[in-house]
Amino acid sequence: MPSTKPIGIFDSGVGGLTVVARVLELLPREDIIYFGDTARVPYGIRSPRVIREFSREIAAWLVARGVKALVVACNTASAVALPALRQLLDIPVIGVVEAGARQAVEATRTGEVAVIGTASTVNSRAYPDAVSRLDAQVRTLSRACPLFVPMVEDGIVEGPVAEAVIRHYLADIRQSRIDTLVLGCTHYPLLQSEMRRALGPELRIVDAAEGTAVELAEILARLDLASPNLENGRRRYVFSDRTDAFQALARRILPGFMGDMETVDVEGGEFRDALRLLESPAGEA
Ligand code: DGL
Repeated sequence: MPSTKPIGIFDSGVGGLTVVARVLELLPREDIIYFGDTARVPYGIRSPRVIREFSREIAAWLVARGVKALVVACNTASAVALPALRQLLDIPVIGVVEAGARQAVEATRTGEVAVIGTASTVNSRAYPDAVSRLDAQVRTLSRACPLFVPMVEDGIVEGPVAEAVIRHYLADIRQSRIDTLVLGCTHYPLLQSEMRRALGPELRIVDAAEGTAVELAEILARLDLASPNLENGRRRYVFSDRTDAFQALARRILPGFMGDMETVDVEGGEFRDALRLLESPAGEA
């Protein structure tokens, strides 16, 4: 049955608004609750155990808010925590990794692709595994680019510094048979223009956020969960910490973002209760 319940989208911080931007383009009628864990960002340098724990807490909080589907916008959390979340939840859980891998397999002509992301994403091998599940012939080079996230957060997305750092990480890709590059991190789409300039026009650049929005739309349609709303949906943007820098970044990522950031304490009762409720046997509080 069509559902007016909101879609839950979460990320380690503000970067996941790149995914929200794509979802808003494709599904403007849907209500959305976005949660950004700005108090505990970055996830990309943390251990799988901690990333899974944070992801479970956030998923439980969103489920307690009645979401009909969960989008894990954070590549690091998708890479590390998706199977655990799918096991825990009885709503559709959509991650960015599978969508990005699918786009890469469809785009490559040489059968060689590169994926860039945080250290935790790369160490998880989630992208190469997803690519070979889709097509065992396609080879994947994975590379961590740890300076990209702080660069984007500091507004350095073009110019000589951005170009030098992009070349530092990616120059050799131009000399290889790789014809497709997956942006396996929420922040990297903001560097796309400078990457295009540095790496040349032939390279296909895949933004995992785009494929994720498409996959979400397909799943809602298939399960008959799309909103029957005739007007644009309502959006709530909730964060675990709020600073001027986070607000400025949100405005850069999501045109039209009005700075309407709500905050909630991840150490507080709302989070604890939500996780207890989700993990308790059916019916118990
Ligand atoms: N959101 C993270 C990702 O997409 C990047 C920022 C972080 O390290 O938390 O992997």
